[in-house]
Amino acid sequence: MNRQSAITASPLHVSVPHDSAIKQVAGRADYVDDLAEPEGTLHAYLGLSSRVHAEIVSIDLDAVRAAPGVVGVLTAADIPAENDISTVHKHDEPVFADRVVEHHGQAIFAVIALDREAARRAARLARIAYRDLPHLTDIAAARAAGGRLVTEPLKLERGDVEAGFAASTHRVAGSVTIGGQEHFYLESQVALAIPGEDDEITIQASTQHPTEIQVMVAQVLGIPHAAVTVNMRRMGGGFGGKETQGNLFACVAAVAARKYRRAVKLRPDRDDDFSITGKRHDFVVDYEVGYDDEGRIQAVAATYAARSGYSADLSGPVTDRALFHCDNAYWYPAVRVQSQPLKTNTVSNTAFRGFGGPQGIVAAERWIEDIAYALGKDPLEIRKANFYGTDSNNITPYHQVVEDNVIHRVIADLEESSEYQARRRAILDFNRTSRVLRKGIALVPVKFGISFTATWHNQAGALVHVYRDGSVHLSHGGTEMGQGLHIKVAQVLADAFGVPLDRVKITASNTGKVPNTSATAASSGTDLNAMAALDGANQIKARMSAHAARLHGVDPAGIVWQFGGIRVGDRLMHFDELATSCWMHRVQLSAAGFYMTPEIYWDRSTGRGRPFYYFAYGAACAEATIDTLTGEYQVDRADVLEDVGRSLNPAIDIGQVEGAFVQGMGWLTTEELWWDQKGQLRTHAPSTYKIPLASDVPRVFNVRLAEWSVNKKPAIGRSKAVGEPPLVLGYSVVEALSMAVASVADYRIAPRLDMPATPERVLFAVERLRRAATTP
Ligand code: MTE
Ligand code: HPA
Ligand code: MOS
Repeated sequence: MNRQSAITASPLHVSVPHDSAIKQVAGRADYVDDLAEPEGTLHAYLGLSSRVHAEIVSIDLDAVRAAPGVVGVLTAADIPAENDISTVHKHDEPVFADRVVEHHGQAIFAVIALDREAARRAARLARIAYRDLPHLTDIAAARAAGGRLVTEPLKLERGDVEAGFAASTHRVAGSVTIGGQEHFYLESQVALAIPGEDDEITIQASTQHPTEIQVMVAQVLGIPHAAVTVNMRRMGGGFGGKETQGNLFACVAAVAARKYRRAVKLRPDRDDDFSITGKRHDFVVDYEVGYDDEGRIQAVAATYAARSGYSADLSGPVTDRALFHCDNAYWYPAVRVQSQPLKTNTVSNTAFRGFGGPQGIVAAERWIEDIAYALGKDPLEIRKANFYGTDSNNITPYHQVVEDNVIHRVIADLEESSEYQARRRAILDFNRTSRVLRKGIALVPVKFGISFTATWHNQAGALVHVYRDGSVHLSHGGTEMGQGLHIKVAQVLADAFGVPLDRVKITASNTGKVPNTSATAASSGTDLNAMAALDGANQIKARMSAHAARLHGVDPAGIVWQFGGIRVGDRLMHFDELATSCWMHRVQLSAAGFYMTPEIYWDRSTGRGRPFYYFAYGAACAEATIDTLTGEYQVDRADVLEDVGRSLNPAIDIGQVEGAFVQGMGWLTTEELWWDQKGQLRTHAPSTYKIPLASDVPRVFNVRLAEWSVNKKPAIGRSKAVGEPPLVLGYSVVEALSMAVASVADYRIAPRLDMPATPERVLFAVERLRRAATTP
């Protein structure tokens, strides 16, 4: 059957559904825990520390071993090679705690049993004796104790900060607290390790970073990377929580699989997953800002302290990215900022959508708000007074020139479509007469740097096969976590070959097919992997073209690839037909593609470079109502405009923006992580940790893409990354709440809501402002 005749148009830049959408809704999409288990699969469960910081005096696992169904236990002594899964800094993160535990919930041992329930129950029977050590759980405590860091801090500086302050007519100093966030991916961490011949081992894991799992398993088992194959079809969400945090589970399953020569699976319960795995870093940002009568910023000095947890993990690059976003979309004539990645006795914090960038942006928006309230102006006016210019005032604190600034157009577009000015006036009127309910509105911009800041991560590979029936097999180095990476790359390949989308077979990510991959992170999954896939396709097309030209005796320059087939002289060859012919004539139909992002470089020691290939922009306007008697609130409306360049798939991109906005809103409003005095996380289940529900989505929610935008850089299809930047737009909700609160003191006092701005915090702020307004 000829499937191509019906195809007339490319599926690129078209809203085609996610390749897994139907399967996911119907429950037919496979996750690791759904895969058929090999005969004799064993199940592991972790035994965790019940102390926050302590020496381990003794470990008695006799009762665990004697429990029904238990096959054996593993401790640090059972690690064949290195008891180390630290990603950046060597030896600060063991698989199993050895002599000391550094946070509540740290893994000390594993039980291996015939079934998961037996392993889970037996894990509770351990008798561990501890000698408690002093502990530091939060930023304040860590600073008070001298501020030990988990990694080298970063400093960015540009301009003369002292002179900037001296020349400022106004100054504001403050401190803003920004909470952490649990990833709450729907699918918890999980790994299945299957031993093979000799030293070979295959891992099925829910991970954003198959290569990292491969490297860690090899390190822990003491085998070459080549002996480990990691396979990953899809995650039920990652959000950064599976960039490094899957290492522990995969390594424990691998050690057990090696020891018992059986397949071993490990999947923690939700609340154990909460306790064991790292979260978004909470920050305290101390700042001083100088500005003039118009609200134009002259100088900024700030310190970004972050709760890193007990080990470095990604805290270095996360706190770096916070500094890279200290400017958001604003020009600072003089700026000096530094990071403080503090060591604490808590789980090691990690990547989370935005990777520190959101925390940096939120702090910048805080001082914009301070300036606005001090001058009695609309924060949007202060924003406009401070935006980067297009030809001048366009150098970032890290000395990269902003060459693609579209923030003015984004803001103007959204200000008009959301009817911001009229609604703001109506809200001011409403607040004048409403006694209990108060409203607020805010319009907030975002500029977000795209590329991994560690330059070497910005590379990708792909393996493209064309089979002799003309079907296309696609594998690339990226992973699917729901964001729509695979469908976008498939669209690019279908477009390149001129074949229908369903001729491109999406396959699992596999370290045996594409080696040395980067994490699917930094929103660069499509930018990197689609380019690599396109490179592979172009290699194959060149060989197919040369063959077609030879076959029909035409000039290779006369070969035109189009939808419906390949024009060879005056003939139209179907892709399938040409593929078969290539095979018959022994033309290679397979290629390994590669891509590296051009132009970028970064020198951390001098704080100068061009770390980002380009910037993604966006803006949101949120309106909220608070109840001044209870602090409860609701988001009445949100209008979002996101610059994704020329969208590869508008439906997917809009989904990303909607999800990111709601996730960002949850982070900054209702999601609260709370550790008790003993360093135990007490909000470790949906009962106490409140993520947004469907009913919390803004009542009116208008999400648009800036159709006028085209990436100035030749990124894939002139699109822009979309995964992380819109998360920060959730901040517009906080500022709307803030305005509603400010109304009780006639907008004369900046409410300075810390985040998450829970109903409790909103209520306290209302009371604080009321008191302040009535005290002369
Ligand atoms: N969207 C869904 N549905 N699930 C996820 O886990 N992760 C986000 C974002 N969007 C995520 C998501 C994060 S943290 C990143 S870095 C990007 O997707 C990664 O994918 P991309 O680079 O292909 O955009
Ligand atoms: N972003 C996201 N993930 C990362 C980065 C980054 O800049 N660097 C290392 N992992
Ligand atoms: Mo996303 S935090 O870069 O995985």
